[in-house]
Amino acid sequence: MPSILETFDELFREAFVNIGYPEELGGVQESSRGSAPYQCNGAMRAAGISKKQGKHITPSDVALSVIEKLQDHPMINKLEIGGPGFINIYPSIIYLRERASELLLDENYGIKQEPPLSVIIDYGGANVAKPMHVGHLRSAVIGESIKRILRAQGHNVIGDVHMGDWGLQMGHLISELRIEQPSLSYFDGDITSGFPDTSPVTMDDLARLYPQASVAAKNNHERMELSRIATAELQSGRPGYRALLEHFISVSVAALKVGYGKLGVEFDLWKGEACVDPLIPEMIKELKLKKITEEDNGALIIRVQEEDDKLEIPPVMLLASSGAVLYHTTDMATLVDRKETNKPDRIIYVVDQRQALHFEQVFRAASKAGWFHPDQLYHVGFGTMNGKDGKPFKTREGGVLRLEDLLDIMNASAKNRLEESGIGISFDSKERSEIARKVGLAALKFADLQNQRLTNYTFDPVRFTSFEGKTGPYLLYAVVRIKSILRKAASASIDFDDKNIELSHSSEKELLIALDAFGRSTSNAASKYLPHILCDHVYRVAQAFSRFYADCPILSEDTPRHLQSSRLSLAKLTLLQLEMGLYMLGIEAPERM
Ligand code: ARG
Repeated sequence: MPSILETFDELFREAFVNIGYPEELGGVQESSRGSAPYQCNGAMRAAGISKKQGKHITPSDVALSVIEKLQDHPMINKLEIGGPGFINIYPSIIYLRERASELLLDENYGIKQEPPLSVIIDYGGANVAKPMHVGHLRSAVIGESIKRILRAQGHNVIGDVHMGDWGLQMGHLISELRIEQPSLSYFDGDITSGFPDTSPVTMDDLARLYPQASVAAKNNHERMELSRIATAELQSGRPGYRALLEHFISVSVAALKVGYGKLGVEFDLWKGEACVDPLIPEMIKELKLKKITEEDNGALIIRVQEEDDKLEIPPVMLLASSGAVLYHTTDMATLVDRKETNKPDRIIYVVDQRQALHFEQVFRAASKAGWFHPDQLYHVGFGTMNGKDGKPFKTREGGVLRLEDLLDIMNASAKNRLEESGIGISFDSKERSEIARKVGLAALKFADLQNQRLTNYTFDPVRFTSFEGKTGPYLLYAVVRIKSILRKAASASIDFDDKNIELSHSSEKELLIALDAFGRSTSNAASKYLPHILCDHVYRVAQAFSRFYADCPILSEDTPRHLQSSRLSLAKLTLLQLEMGLYMLGIEAPERM
């Protein structure tokens, strides 16, 4: 079901071909100025082509010929020439109405369904025991949105948290625990099985042991050696350490599920680096057999530099000279796992832009190995969320951010805003705090998603929670307002006929034209993994709704019955779209506020 823009685009292309010009001159776009919602600018270039052929045809001549072909078309109300030969396009009211009811009935809200691909999104990426930082927050928020956008297009998407559970941090934890509790059976080299089912540590222990160990190791070479040895022994399969790893992972996963849950982020897979370890020996064998590996000072590498590279791209490090497995290795092995387990058409990594080189290296190696075509692998990078000092956001104590603390800050700010504006004061305290939670989360997520993802932005809870301007709370307010209108209509027993939207006022037409852009905004957001395009769209719709609501009384007694019904339908259409748009951004609205 094509949008208004697509329909006109096709009509104008056909018209340009009919009068002897190349099809692409008929491209139609939305107008940014003037009262016509759409325009076609091909006449100027067409006149240029004619001139080259020695014909004296002006842009307005071309525009006139196009207008002549199309002016009686039932979808067009009026065509006029603007400036040097722009064609301004006004859709007919009949067509707009038809489009409105079509949108209302479309179970996909005007979002174009694509031939389904199987996609894995690797996002979240929190590390076991190491605290989450803003990079993990952004990855979760952006990744969740991309997952929902792709699903809305009909793709089969699997979200994998891909935890960091295989590096030096595990060695830190094991060795630190050993220092504290040396008598635990995990540390007795003679015991190889029958370890306890319950974890010897809690999440609080892990959160304490890790920084303790990492500080000690930084200041003391011998302490660092203990962590290194523990890491190596773990990786070479020491049973007690493997058993500890299992405990660390399950304790962390339980905590991470709570943290991500509070953020409204859900993963289908809770895999990590550790779980692909068993695949590494076979993988190394395969890569050697394919003759793409090289020995380099005792390390095993894959060279990925290409001739036309402007920068140096260092080799992929499969094995360090110590035989240790590295970040490259686990990402390569994860590709093997995904290739064999999920056979994805595409894998998207939503990870801090500072890891761009890492992914470039891994993607090239995977393509050399013949596992994936470079087009199937995509790094969706992003910038940082900074504090007022312009550096990545930290807590007041200067430590790395804890997700819980950040959410608390947002919650408190939202609460202030709500009190300040007197919103929800008559509700009971339970409902009020639920509203504050939703407003705070929406504020944080929308502030994060509305920037082109590669740009850095400043954490500013006061601005994020404002009910005015391009913010999450503004959008929630729009949703809640429509819900309340529909509730009032229901309690006044005004039922309305979904299919009939009249669009008599210019604000109604403008609202419909904004709504018509949902499909292409979603497609554009999906094609380059850019949720900010969708943010722009929902904001535009909310603004258009505001103007409509100011200009067109819905439930007032002076509004005739048929207009009430038509406007309620338009409000309902707006609500459906705003809710779907916000859903794709991972944002949930309260019922009322
Ligand atoms: N755990 C990593 C970090 O904290 C992010 C993991 C990203 N995903 C991946 N497949 N490498 O930096």
